[in-house]
Amino acid sequence: MSSVVFQLFTVPSPMMTPVQSDAVSALCSQVFQLDYSYYMDLCPDRVHVLGYADGRLVAHALWLDRPLRVGDGPWLRSAYVEGVATHADYRQRGYGSAVIRRLQAAISGYDLGALSPAVPEWYVKLGWERWQGPLWIEQDGALEATPDDEMVLIYRTPRTPQLDLAASLTAPWRPFELW
Ligand SMILES: CC(C)(COP(=O)(O)OP(=O)(O)OC[C@H]1O[C@@H](n2cnc3c(N)ncnc32)[C@H](O)[C@@H]1OP(=O)(O)O)[C@@H](O)C(=O)NCCC(=O)NCCS
Repeated sequence: MSSVVFQLFTVPSPMMTPVQSDAVSALCSQVFQLDYSYYMDLCPDRVHVLGYADGRLVAHALWLDRPLRVGDGPWLRSAYVEGVATHADYRQRGYGSAVIRRLQAAISGYDLGALSPAVPEWYVKLGWERWQGPLWIEQDGALEATPDDEMVLIYRTPRTPQLDLAASLTAPWRPFELW
């Protein structure tokens, strides 16, 4: 009986090898049914968590720096999480959770973690909390409301200040998925 060797690596994008980048693009393109290399090119500064089963990339998540503002408070330095994906043939084995737990430990120096979930209940089990207040996008000093069906979850780090989850949450505009 053989047991799978599962390994996790945390790699900033400038340190990624072409093989690693190609593997991330291939996995995320397959899982999200789009050309993920487009998103990788849009945000050059990312940190990837790579999960390998017997040497094959099967699970992935990344974070990037994104300022977020609660109410009228100061801009907080958030680790904004994206590209959470486990290969369809490798799900329900704890690999995705292992990647997220590694990521959660790695972002302890940030003011908070945040993401826009496709599977909110899965993240809630891992300690993420739903933002209850309105979501805003700021562009050129103007605020635009986000439609109500958009959801954001946050993760508290040791540096997270006291948060009013019912207050507004604002992010700067960006040229792709706003949340
Ligand atoms: C969401 C996603 C990343 C989860 O990945 P995963 O590797 O299957 O996640 P896990 O195995 O850690 O957890 C999945 C479930 O398996 C269970 N599980 C955990 N370890 C397990 C194990 N060793 N054996 C069997 N089941 C296990 C978990 O309890 C969890 O149960 P749940 O379905 O009741 O929530 C994956 O389904 C995926 O890529 N989905 C498509 C892309 C997507 O939606 N990404 C999120 C975008 S925000």
